[in-house]
Amino acid sequence: MRSDRVTRRAALALAAGLSLAVSAIPVQAQDGAKKIRIGVIGAGNIGGTIGTLWVKDGHEVMFASRHPETLASMVSELGPKAKAGTPEEAIKFGDAVFIAVPYKAYPDLAKEIGPALSGKIVLDAGNATQRRDGALYDEVQANGIGTTSAKYFPGAKLVRAFNAANYKVFAKESADGGKARAGGRMAIPIAGDDPEALKVAEGLVRDAGFDPVVVGPLKEADRFAMGSPGFGHELTAPELREKLGVAK
Ligand SMILES: NC(=O)c1ccc[n+]([C@@H]2O[C@H](COP(=O)([O-])OP(=O)(O)OC[C@H]3O[C@@H](n4cnc5c(N)ncnc54)[C@H](OP(=O)(O)O)[C@@H]3O)[C@@H](O)[C@H]2O)c1
Repeated sequence: MRSDRVTRRAALALAAGLSLAVSAIPVQAQDGAKKIRIGVIGAGNIGGTIGTLWVKDGHEVMFASRHPETLASMVSELGPKAKAGTPEEAIKFGDAVFIAVPYKAYPDLAKEIGPALSGKIVLDAGNATQRRDGALYDEVQANGIGTTSAKYFPGAKLVRAFNAANYKVFAKESADGGKARAGGRMAIPIAGDDPEALKVAEGLVRDAGFDPVVVGPLKEADRFAMGSPGFGHELTAPELREKLGVAK
């Protein structure tokens, strides 16, 4: 309970900081893409950070919590494009959904919201760690992260995204829409099987202030999973393509 409060406080502080840091970004897509509605499930470190970047770019975002009332100050600070709701409400709201909850929650979450995610474009940031996720970590080691996420959310058009760096890195490197970054915008590796979902994810990566690098189908997400050689880099798109051996 206490650590939940600490985490929420940290995320709120970061969201507040981001509000200031990116408030100069004009409210229009950085790549001209149309604005969509996004449901963010898990408004903690990563959901709060990336969701805030999308709000600042002009997307409408519903941040979901099991206790949506705890998000009141965060969404109020972000303005009219930000809302709070339950996971079910965020799925209904979103043209796309961003999942940012601890990986060990996936089995229960799948029972609660799996059917509602069927047919939806879902960006999946979850990482499995041995200490936190136990049996789920073992499952990911055995079967791969993309395959495991797809097992829990079988009908969703899944794209692995925003999993390969720390939220503080995402917050820092997206300042001024990534335009101020020396050498060019930071690349975000993504992987998925559905071409439409990949296109939407590419646009949302750009709108958050980064450049997408499509690594391949969902099973290729292991190439940038936590603990893999492709994890944890702050590279530009050409540099990341070279590192991962991905053709343009
Ligand atoms: N932190 C990072 O830098 C980072 C970077 C890349 C990827 N990731 C991955 O992203 C995921 C989230 O990490 P985080 O650091 O953002 O975690 P976090 O700050 O703890 O936030 C996770 C959110 O998920 C919700 N949640 C927790 N347990 C849940 C459950 N059993 N069912 C449904 N919702 C639950 C909580 O919201 P409520 O309690 O309000 O419901 C919480 O705000 C993890 O899988 C992590 O590995 C994290």
